Amino acid sequence: MPLICEIAAGRGIRVVEDCAQAHGASLDGQLVGTFGDFAAFSFSPEKMICTGQGGIVLCREAGTQERLRQLASKGKGTGWHDYIELGYSYVMPEFEAIAGLSGLRQLPDAIAAAARAVAVYQEAFFGTALRIVNAPPDAKPSYFKCAIRLPAQSSHLRDDIYTAIAAENVRVRVTHPSLDTIPWVASTLAKHQRGRPAPNLCPIANRELPLVLELESSVSEEDAWRSAAGVLRAFNHVERLTKAW
Ligand SMILES: Cc1ncc(COP(=O)(O)O)c(C=O)c1O
Repeated sequence: MPLICEIAAGRGIRVVEDCAQAHGASLDGQLVGTFGDFAAFSFSPEKMICTGQGGIVLCREAGTQERLRQLASKGKGTGWHDYIELGYSYVMPEFEAIAGLSGLRQLPDAIAAAARAVAVYQEAFFGTALRIVNAPPDAKPSYFKCAIRLPAQSSHLRDDIYTAIAAENVRVRVTHPSLDTIPWVASTLAKHQRGRPAPNLCPIANRELPLVLELESSVSEEDAWRSAAGVLRAFNHVERLTKAW
């Protein structure tokens, strides 16, 4: 983040931090959401703070807060008939705000509980071919999910492993695709290429993301042990079957 902010500052570019999943996470002691000019946190289901849907935007510069409020409130100013510009109807209902405040109070406990579950996964997968995707040493993640990485040689088995883990009744999901493989992004990029071959814009994401599965981290330590055992059974089962072929 500091490097991104430095590059952007030199070019007059505003930085918007996508902190959708990272409530309470920090980098080198600095909370995420405080690096850029704007930051957005999601409060949608499964997030560390959930209000049902929606989220919150942080902003640094004086004046931007009022503009954001205005845009979220049908383009209106503070007066009832104060129509200033075309806006949206994104205001947060009070009931949702109450849920959000309660989530905020529970956030430190939720982060600590998720870290304990991840520590269980770490111990359970130690010495196996699976590994936890670790955060950099200067980062303190909030562990919205626990990302596990399959060995590179198992990449073609990812979907079979996923299905076998789900069949063990373990909550698992395939991680997000690389941005440049999302069909509408790919076709937009292709238009800009005007017939030239598409550059490999995200080589690391394209190599790594197809190997990553996400496990539930908001579980008790007991459930994390149970889930880890299910994951290992499923992984070993698929590996054994493919070797037997
Ligand atoms: C990294 C990231 N950005 C943005 C979003 C979108 O958040 P929302 O569902 O609140 O629109 C998500 C949702 O999971 C996300 O994980």
